[in-house]
Amino acid sequence: MTAEPNSGLHSRRSAITVGAVGAVAAGTILTVSACAPGEEGGDSAQPGSTPTPSAGASLAVLADIPVGEATAVTTPDDQEIIVSRPTETTAAAFSAICTHQSCKVKPEGSELRCPCHGSVFDALTGEVRNGPADRPLPSVPVSVEGGNVVAG
Ligand code: FES
Repeated sequence: MTAEPNSGLHSRRSAITVGAVGAVAAGTILTVSACAPGEEGGDSAQPGSTPTPSAGASLAVLADIPVGEATAVTTPDDQEIIVSRPTETTAAAFSAICTHQSCKVKPEGSELRCPCHGSVFDALTGEVRNGPADRPLPSVPVSVEGGNVVAG
């Protein structure tokens, strides 16, 4: 039986070529997912812009939010916000759009974490706990009426 003299070399070249193409493709995907504004939330809001849900719109049931924590809410007019519960009877709300490059932050206990570059915000105040974001999440005026968190 005879083996082709370059068959092993050809296989290695193919593997290297396939690997390089795969790396380029993966790099492209990572670049898009890390930098596209609103990628995580489908929101085209700019960093630092303040959502303005219609006054009186019901946003959440206060009892559904653990005291000291927060929940992500899409308003009736499709704005991404965070509603938190600082105390048993009060609520606060913030834009869910990271002030760094506009990804959507996610509640985790008393924090809001940005999946794109790792910024961390206080879920009860919107203040930055860790960068790269250097501005707090804009607050959204809310009140508690009859156990519901309402805009305005
Ligand atoms: S978009 Fe960069 S940390 Fe949030």
